[in-house]
Amino acid sequence: MTSVLMHGLADGAAGVAHPNGTVRRLPDIVIIGVRKGGTRALIEMLSLHGDVAAAENEVHFFDWESHFQKGLPWYLSQMPYALPGQLTVEKTPAYFTSSKVPRRLQQVNPGAKLLLILRDPTERVLSDYTQVYHNRLLKHKQHQPIEEVLVLKDGGVNLGYKALNRSLYYVHMQNWLRHFPLDSIHVVDGDALIRDPFPEVKRVERFLRLEPQINAANFYFNRTKGFYCLRDHGRERCLHDSKGRAHPRVAPDILQKLYRFFHEPNRKFFELVGRTFDWN
Ligand SMILES: *[C@@H]1O[C@H](CO)[C@@H](O)[C@H](O)[C@H]1NC(C)=O
Ligand SMILES: *[C@@H]1O[C@H](CO)[C@@H](O)[C@H](O)[C@H]1NC(C)=O
Ligand SMILES: *[C@@H]1O[C@H](CO)[C@@H](O)[C@H](O)[C@H]1NC(C)=O
Repeated sequence: MTSVLMHGLADGAAGVAHPNGTVRRLPDIVIIGVRKGGTRALIEMLSLHGDVAAAENEVHFFDWESHFQKGLPWYLSQMPYALPGQLTVEKTPAYFTSSKVPRRLQQVNPGAKLLLILRDPTERVLSDYTQVYHNRLLKHKQHQPIEEVLVLKDGGVNLGYKALNRSLYYVHMQNWLRHFPLDSIHVVDGDALIRDPFPEVKRVERFLRLEPQINAANFYFNRTKGFYCLRDHGRERCLHDSKGRAHPRVAPDILQKLYRFFHEPNRKFFELVGRTFDWN
């Protein structure tokens, strides 16, 4: 596989040029996750910057075999046409928790700057469950109540539940740190980004060494919706995690169990990244 990739790289390392002077290049920035962490909000906010060109769709190159087998020319074909001086960004939230992705990404794009947007792991599990639940409802499929998926018969937390695993941030981070230095990964506080986006976005702008361009006037609070929207050359966009879907009601004792369960994994994650977050 590596040789297929390298062959593709030799063909297209400089990217695919368009006669109008724009180029499809490997992304300078990859938003690697996490699912339900606010990756859509983050890429939309980054796109406010004139020196950022964002891929339109989630690319799933490194995690989906059917895409990966197509090699780098396909990956490049998913990238936006960027002007000289613009940074290209793609986001695929599933990258963070896929164990094969860090190595593959490093082989292809070792200089990439990585953005990881995280939120309280318990909240993230509920949001993850809610999305899957809604998808199953749409397909008229059965779905277990959240208590049954989260807790085993013996009262323990169900480690086999994938959504729970995705919130074990330190497990996945350890894998990334085997392939990328910590200073190439910026962790965005997804809870802060929703509460008060501007300061959090400025931190991202600085990390990427972009000229300061995004400003407070790009954000306004919509009282009806209860969250921030973006204003960009007269164009207005509102977005929010789960696009406003209510979370399921979870019995308080189960919620407490989850918060307690994540305490230790969270501490390990804080240690790995040398920074704390105000997760319960
Ligand atoms: C250059 O061409 C591409 C492909 O048609 C188009 O998507 C892009 O908007 C163009 N960019 C400029 C600056 O003209
Ligand atoms: C959690 O996910 C990681 C990465 O995919 C995997 O290595 C690990 O075995 C999983 N843990 C459990 C308990 O399923
Ligand atoms: C705020 O949100 C409401 C409800 O979605 C919408 O009808 C309204 O147009 C929004 N106002 C602004 C200023 O975006």
